[in-house]
Amino acid sequence: MSFLLEVSHLSKAFGGHEVLKGVNLRIKQGTIHALIGPNGAGKTTLLNIINGLETPNKGRVFFKGKDITSLAPEKRAKLGIARTFQLLEVFSGLTVLENVMISLYAKNPWGFFKSLFLGDYFNPQERDLREKALFFLKEVNLLPRAHEEVQNLPAGEQKLLEIARAIALEPEILLLDEPAAGLNNRETRVLGEILKKLCENKKITILLVEHDMELVMKISQHVTVLNFGEVLAEGTPLEIQKNPEVIRAYLGEET
Ligand SMILES: Nc1ncnc2c1ncn2[C@@H]1O[C@H](COP(=O)(O)OP(=O)(O)O)[C@@H](O)[C@H]1O
Ligand SMILES: [Mg+2]
Repeated sequence: MSFLLEVSHLSKAFGGHEVLKGVNLRIKQGTIHALIGPNGAGKTTLLNIINGLETPNKGRVFFKGKDITSLAPEKRAKLGIARTFQLLEVFSGLTVLENVMISLYAKNPWGFFKSLFLGDYFNPQERDLREKALFFLKEVNLLPRAHEEVQNLPAGEQKLLEIARAIALEPEILLLDEPAAGLNNRETRVLGEILKKLCENKKITILLVEHDMELVMKISQHVTVLNFGEVLAEGTPLEIQKNPEVIRAYLGEET
């Protein structure tokens, strides 16, 4: 069995506070793998360590069998690891399309600003990038919004834009930190459908940190439960829903 991403015996402390305590996690290629757990369990810290924003005190991270524990975040992004954040990371004041173009210009930032300020819209490279950006917007159903300014979009569409920006990097794995937070039921359902489609059609593996249990249970194939920095349980959504320890530690908490 080969895993796309493997986290092994990972520990992390902030000051004297141990936030992750020997966490193991294995993510199969082509799956949606949910990571759930109460607030403060260490989920965001785990994502930060996977994409290189934080370094662990102990343990290793492997991507396609390669030890990436000490690689810089940009290098991990180039290898195919993309993520979105718990708080929105879009540029307001720019249009939806321009936001995706920024992602596409990640390797050539001056090109973007030059075209933005000098109005260099009609050179072939520029046209090519616009077309690419439109393609990624279509993937998340945002094509009709392409020329809208970002701050005019409802929360759900801003989230989808963030996902469009992340998939514009053509990642193999997408790390999502609570993408349904602040979304209404309809927006959450749309989000779920888009994530499923990205996984099934685009073969993007997804590590989904999420509090919305209905969404988690509907779209993921595997669930890992983190509690006080330790893996409390893992299994299929059904197994997790039935696990008495999980119910006690987590699912019961919010109802
Ligand atoms: N940079 C930091 N410095 C100090 N403590 C932190 C830092 N980041 C997270 N923590 C602490 O680590 C614990 C886990 O946080 P986090 O990973 O954000 O949990 P979750 O995403 O599961 O809610 C929390 O107690 C939080 O206060
Ligand atoms: Mg968090």
